Amino acid sequence: MKINGSNYKTIWFDSKDKVVKIIDQTLLPFEFKIISLRTFDDVVRAIKTMQVRGAPLIGATAAYGMYFASLLKDDFVFLEQKANELKQARPTAVNLAWAVERILQKVKNVTNNVSEVILSECEKICLEDISMCESIGNHGLEIIKKIKEEKKLETINILTHCNAGWLATIDWGTATAPIYKAFQNNINVHVWVDETRPRNQGSSLTSYELNHEKIPNTIIADNTGGLLMQKGKVDLCIVGTDRVSANGDVANKIGTYLKALAAYDNNIPFYVALPSSTIDWQLNDGQDIPIEERSSEELNIVSGLDQNNNVQKINIYPAESKSLNLAFDITPAKYVTGFITEKGVCDANAQSLKKMFS
Ligand code: MRU
Repeated sequence: MKINGSNYKTIWFDSKDKVVKIIDQTLLPFEFKIISLRTFDDVVRAIKTMQVRGAPLIGATAAYGMYFASLLKDDFVFLEQKANELKQARPTAVNLAWAVERILQKVKNVTNNVSEVILSECEKICLEDISMCESIGNHGLEIIKKIKEEKKLETINILTHCNAGWLATIDWGTATAPIYKAFQNNINVHVWVDETRPRNQGSSLTSYELNHEKIPNTIIADNTGGLLMQKGKVDLCIVGTDRVSANGDVANKIGTYLKALAAYDNNIPFYVALPSSTIDWQLNDGQDIPIEERSSEELNIVSGLDQNNNVQKINIYPAESKSLNLAFDITPAKYVTGFITEKGVCDANAQSLKKMFS
């Protein structure tokens, strides 16, 4: 998608310099900077510090991490160790484990040119992600069209949480892909963007990317969605996910569960958009999904522009105040209207998921 009118992907391999290029998302929305990852440690750091974030992008970046690992040593036991190191970097998004396992499977019996084989698999992972997200967009577009027609809407109001946009994937996004497709099909859309404390992925990333695509959107504080739903100002919710258990429970950015409850109470469709790489077939219950706990400093330290347009970081409460920063929550499948996947739309339960991906 576009930034300042130019097309970008979130990650790509620079074959001339043999580095991986990413957009440093910790600097957005105030600075757009492309940086190079040159080593395995660079990759781990980029994932941990959230220079890259969003489940599919974390997975793709981790795959490139395996490429850098193989440049150090290409024996399989070493690569398994490095895969485990990567898996610890961010525990909730299953795409990370999915991607490194895929690389390990690919090179299990390979003895020659291991690094080249891994690199080509990384490229495949990225291309497949783009195509899955575009398909999610096409399937989600049908839902948007249907709701707009049924409710005879001039403009459809869609609420989303966190950033499940193209910045969280390689391109298109998951939750935003149907929105981009609708906009391209001349459907009037307006997006309510949850700010998404504490890291504000909604206000600093989702709104930013929608603005650059010229899609009307309004940032709201995280607690506003419920009231807007009661007032009839939300027609549809679409969110992304970091992991869906085999029974259809959904791990996503903290606060998603509360939005799903409010949507349920107000009879508003609540869809979760995901590529199949986000399904954890090994887990039967969402309550078993590991929840990442991040530094409590993320709650306290806020960055923004000062009067001279310089980025400053400030503390918003005394350092001695205790805080807890859980990054994700679990929305039980019963509150999810459906899953928008690359294969189509299905109900949020074990049978429907199995049927769709059999
Ligand atoms: O902590 P983040 O920014 O990595 O969290 C991102 C989300 O919660 C997204 O909704 C999820 O990864 C889906 S991305 C298509």
